[in-house]
Amino acid sequence: MKRMLWTMLGLAAAMTVAPARAADVKVGLSLPTQREERWVKDKLVMEAEAKKAGIDLRVQVTDNDASKQVAQCENLISQGVKVLILAPHDASSAAVIIDKAAKAGIKVISYDRLVTNSTLDYHYLSFDNVKVGELQGDFITKKVPKGTYIVLAGSPTDNNAKLFREGAMKYIKPLADKGDIKIVMDQFVKDWQPSEAQKLCEQALTANLNKVDAVLAPNDGTAGGCIQALAAQGLAGKVPITGQDAELAGAIRIVQGTQSMTIFKDTRELGKRAIQMALELTQGKPIDTQGRVVNNGKRDVPSVLLTPLIVTRDNLDELLIKSGYLTREKVYRK
Ligand code: BGC
Repeated sequence: MKRMLWTMLGLAAAMTVAPARAADVKVGLSLPTQREERWVKDKLVMEAEAKKAGIDLRVQVTDNDASKQVAQCENLISQGVKVLILAPHDASSAAVIIDKAAKAGIKVISYDRLVTNSTLDYHYLSFDNVKVGELQGDFITKKVPKGTYIVLAGSPTDNNAKLFREGAMKYIKPLADKGDIKIVMDQFVKDWQPSEAQKLCEQALTANLNKVDAVLAPNDGTAGGCIQALAAQGLAGKVPITGQDAELAGAIRIVQGTQSMTIFKDTRELGKRAIQMALELTQGKPIDTQGRVVNNGKRDVPSVLLTPLIVTRDNLDELLIKSGYLTREKVYRK
């Protein structure tokens, strides 16, 4: 009996000193878009994780509009968020959001995409994006070490697009310099639009009488657009093409043989880390970056970078289905 009483007292004490749930902590989340499936997942994961942690997460989506993003973030700041998780549509114009947040004493996590040209203090949470490009470049140059290439990059306003390209070009450029690879198109794709990628690929195919041997597409969305252009010429499945994001549509194309690879960046992990980091920042805890930084043009930003994985037909089941990222029924639908 006595022991029970002590246990109960102990429990009561533990309950009173337990760290407060973050119920009163408001966190803002500003996302660039919901067009690519990955951003839908990022949003769902962060909402679920915030709920678990008792965080009041306020979400805004900017639809690829830089000034709308500034206005939405001003609004979040005025709602009294303590941390802002910001995935910028336009890397450099988003620096003003960091200024405004800093003035209001709000910490910023630059999420997935780096905000550039800010001299202020913030954290970056993403994947190793140069590595993403390296995986794409290494893959495509091994498949097609000689031949005619279409090289597409993502949105010119997205710092990631530059990093992906930088990584891929480490492999493509030396072969192009040697004359083994001929690059017949080298273009950024406005707002990462699949329809824009399709148009560019159509142009390149027409201009080169369909003599294209490989395509570097920066993500699954743009790959999808380009594969439509290839399909219209009876070339889908014949021309190796890269991707990224492990979108369902990309995985289906890999299984069907029209897309050669994708990159798996587990958004479940990224979203979870973002919410954890937001909590740590509100509690004044240090963020464990293991000394990593990424330069934003003005300063080194302390960074947490997760590891991207390459997915081909051979490891798709293992990486995407067994991990529960995609379902077998959907990927192998008839
Ligand atoms: C992300 C990619 C995504 C692209 C288009 C990039 O910043 O890292 O995963 O495909 O934006 O939304």
